[in-house]
Amino acid sequence: MTIVARPTSVQSLLGGSIELPVHACGHGPAIEVSPWTAEPGSAGVVAVVGAGKMGLPLAAQFADHGWHVIAVDVQQSVVDLINEGRSHVAEEPGLAELVATAHSGGRLRATTDGAAAARDADVVVLIVPVMLDDEQQPDYRYMDSAVAAIAPGVHPGSLVIFETTLPVGDTRDRFTPRLEAVSGLTADADFFVAFSPERLYSGAALRNLATYPKLVGGIGRASTARAAAFYDAVLDTEIVAMSNAEAAEFSKLADTTYRDVNIALANEFARYAERVNVDIHEVIAAANSQPYSHIHQPGLGVGGHCIPVYPHFLLSRAPELELVELSRRTNDGQVGVAIRSIEKEIGGLEGVPVLVLGLTYRHGVHELAYSRALPLIERLTHAGALVSAYDPLLTPEETARCCATPWTWGTAGPFRAVVTQTADPLFNELDPDWFPDLDVVFDGRDSLRDLALPPTVAYRGIGLPPRPRAVAQPGPGRQ
Ligand SMILES: NC(=O)c1ccc[n+]([C@@H]2O[C@H](COP(=O)([O-])OP(=O)(O)OC[C@H]3O[C@@H](n4cnc5c(N)ncnc54)[C@H](O)[C@@H]3O)[C@@H](O)[C@H]2O)c1
Repeated sequence: MTIVARPTSVQSLLGGSIELPVHACGHGPAIEVSPWTAEPGSAGVVAVVGAGKMGLPLAAQFADHGWHVIAVDVQQSVVDLINEGRSHVAEEPGLAELVATAHSGGRLRATTDGAAAARDADVVVLIVPVMLDDEQQPDYRYMDSAVAAIAPGVHPGSLVIFETTLPVGDTRDRFTPRLEAVSGLTADADFFVAFSPERLYSGAALRNLATYPKLVGGIGRASTARAAAFYDAVLDTEIVAMSNAEAAEFSKLADTTYRDVNIALANEFARYAERVNVDIHEVIAAANSQPYSHIHQPGLGVGGHCIPVYPHFLLSRAPELELVELSRRTNDGQVGVAIRSIEKEIGGLEGVPVLVLGLTYRHGVHELAYSRALPLIERLTHAGALVSAYDPLLTPEETARCCATPWTWGTAGPFRAVVTQTADPLFNELDPDWFPDLDVVFDGRDSLRDLALPPTVAYRGIGLPPRPRAVAQPGPGRQ
């Protein structure tokens, strides 16, 4: 028998850490066919509209499977780089090489002209953002203009696929009528329309393309069959032909909302754990050591394009989903939990220099969308703190745009509190000697447990019992 402090197998059962096998490519050389008729083994022309963090990996993947790809983007700089065979998405392993190979092989070009691209293409994949407006309703401005741009190019035999996450019903009710009106064609008869959720993880997009099953649902049987045949030609994974577009749309909202609700539960548990002097991470690891519990990690809240956004897509059509709404509020409330904990440690925040480490929504991804750093800085400032910040992925100018004073890594500072908002491994190299007045380190992502702190500096985190600390002697900067 073995006695351990933490279950050793738990890693494999924690949400997000289950490794799926990568499927090897089983396709032979594709035969180019024009127009593409969905015959197995054939390749045509695909336009990818929105050549961003998700669109460019898709474009490279399709080209790698013998298709001619036209990347469409409204940003001329993106178009120019692709036409030089270069990737503008830095954090995607293997992407730069695939883009260069596809371009030099004559299978990848880019344009700002959506109508011409759709005219030349057998398949149009739309992957431009749909975000939230100030009322937390879907903001369709990019997708509306992308659909308007491609509609004149839709022709008999076109297959239009929406990969951007959408509220249930939008593929059929919002966008298909627009395509029909402009083209004068009938969907699911003259041309085809489907939804296929993009489920990739930024930074692992190419790997995920080779692992996750591809979900597809058309507005009718013909559209489902056509879209499934397309993905079967360009992906090496299983293709799941779902009953309809609505089921495919809902599957992405269900997946992301499940994660938001799960994280909210972990955050509630964390609040209770603190009250009863228990380490929530020990509890979760123990609970997850059998296969029916998959509790996610608590933290400072949820950021990024997806998880904090898509529950609102559901709520915009189904406000009665109380659990979904409550979970959003719980996760957004975590910034307040952190600030109260810091205030408790050092008294009020009026005039107190505070350093926030990590501004992007997740470490390793150059993306500020819905980052919890932004409300964290805002609320600290509102409480009177003098907020500085640092993120290894951001320039000082980008940091200043987040309403914090840029701090340079490794320099001395007057900070009494340090808060980590991402789990960047660099932050484990922080030297407390840089900050002689430091009172508390707040570990917002449970990544600094091994950081050696002087006994006078408190270590606090989400769902951790407070550790007693020695009382500091008044230093030169202290009141
Ligand atoms: N980023 C992620 O982690 C992620 C993960 C899974 C799914 N998704 C889905 O992918 C969508 C896009 O995300 P992203 O990260 O690739 O966004 P992004 O901001 O990196 O890229 C979007 C691209 O679309 C371009 N664009 C905007 N409007 C356009 C238009 N009318 N015509 C042509 N191009 C236009 C932009 O210039 C930009 O290059 C999201 O809305 C989401 O539904 C994203």
